[in-house]
Amino acid sequence: MDYDPLSPAAIEDPYPMYSKMRESSPIFWSSRMNSWVLTRYRDCLLLLTDSDTFASDWTRAGHEETGAASSLQELDPPEHTPVRRLFTVAMRSQQLDRIGADIRDLADGIMSRRSRSAGSFDFTAEVARPVALLGVCQLLGIAKPPVRDFAALADAMTRGMDAGLLPEVLAPALEARTKLNHQIAGWFDACDTGGLLGEVLGGAQGAGVSREAVWNSARVLFLAGFSTAVGAAANAALALATHPDALEQVRISNVLSSGVDEFMRFDGPVQGTTRACVQDTTIGGVTIKRGDLALALLGSANRDPEQFRNPDDILLTREPNRHLALGWGIHGCSGAILARIMIRALLESLTQTRGHLRLAGAPERLPRATLRYPDRLPLSFDRPEAQL
Ligand code: HEM
Repeated sequence: MDYDPLSPAAIEDPYPMYSKMRESSPIFWSSRMNSWVLTRYRDCLLLLTDSDTFASDWTRAGHEETGAASSLQELDPPEHTPVRRLFTVAMRSQQLDRIGADIRDLADGIMSRRSRSAGSFDFTAEVARPVALLGVCQLLGIAKPPVRDFAALADAMTRGMDAGLLPEVLAPALEARTKLNHQIAGWFDACDTGGLLGEVLGGAQGAGVSREAVWNSARVLFLAGFSTAVGAAANAALALATHPDALEQVRISNVLSSGVDEFMRFDGPVQGTTRACVQDTTIGGVTIKRGDLALALLGSANRDPEQFRNPDDILLTREPNRHLALGWGIHGCSGAILARIMIRALLESLTQTRGHLRLAGAPERLPRATLRYPDRLPLSFDRPEAQL
């Protein structure tokens, strides 16, 4: 099996390929990615939930220390547990509904201006990025950096996730990381004590968590939160603009409490996550050896017909919907509550804006394997003359 996630066909639409892989070789070794690739829901779920066997901290599987200090994403129990608890408690004590209301106000303002002016607009740049940045900055309790500058840093760092496949993205990613570290230093000095960052800083010592772990986790939180929320919003907007039935259903009935998760399952921004195997283990007749990397293709798992009825359709009231778009298990998304609030507020705003939402041009995508979403998404609100 020679799957190239950066091929033009995979960037355009990987789902038909995922379907073929699930059928013909659900687990295969990819020399291109230097990793096992798991495509079925059940195997991906196992990788996410069995952290004894599949490590986020790759040194447990015999990989060399990178020298880089760890964030909660690269730690495993027992070190992971207090860091995760510290962030989870601080997350729950934030006024997330207020953040949702502010997001809704910002989105309503942008969208109503857009619906009054003729022509198309780029949803990713004009709506998803400013809204996601507002959400994450309010959560952390920090001043909002200029959207364009921050989006450029975040883009460079998220593209760095694909450095194994595309070595040229590594240097810009490291440069962006250095710049982001400078910004974080400023936030640490000037954060609002009531925001999440102030709270974790205040609680770190009592919880036995080093300032370094807080620092690195704050960077992950900011990036994981911003880029994925931009991606989830852009993917959901694209799905609405290209699925008139779903758009109509969201407009006339209150389906977003389950619909938000269905949009994430249908086309989530995080296509995969990798773990290192701690001990030889056999899954689906394939033996994965200690030290080997294994990639769970979450995008494929979320379209697995063994788990989801009519997986290629958007069923806004799908129940149950145990999708993996937000991960699962001990490393599952710590920002999941805020993610749902943000996407819901945006989709409400998008569907309640007057005018007929329409795709106004071909979406443009950068070649990226890990994060999938349109980097440019031209939309318009067409309006019959009578409504103007
Ligand atoms: C809709 C938007 C989002 C999506 C699709 C998403 C997706 C994910 C996924 C798939 C993982 C698991 C990665 C793995 O297992 O390796 C994850 C972890 C994480 N997410 Fe999110 N995320 C979103 C929004 C957010 C937000 C808003 C925040 C915080 C502001 C956030 C913070 C985190 C953190 C800190 C982790 C690492 C947790 C750990 O390793 O213990 N995410 N996210």
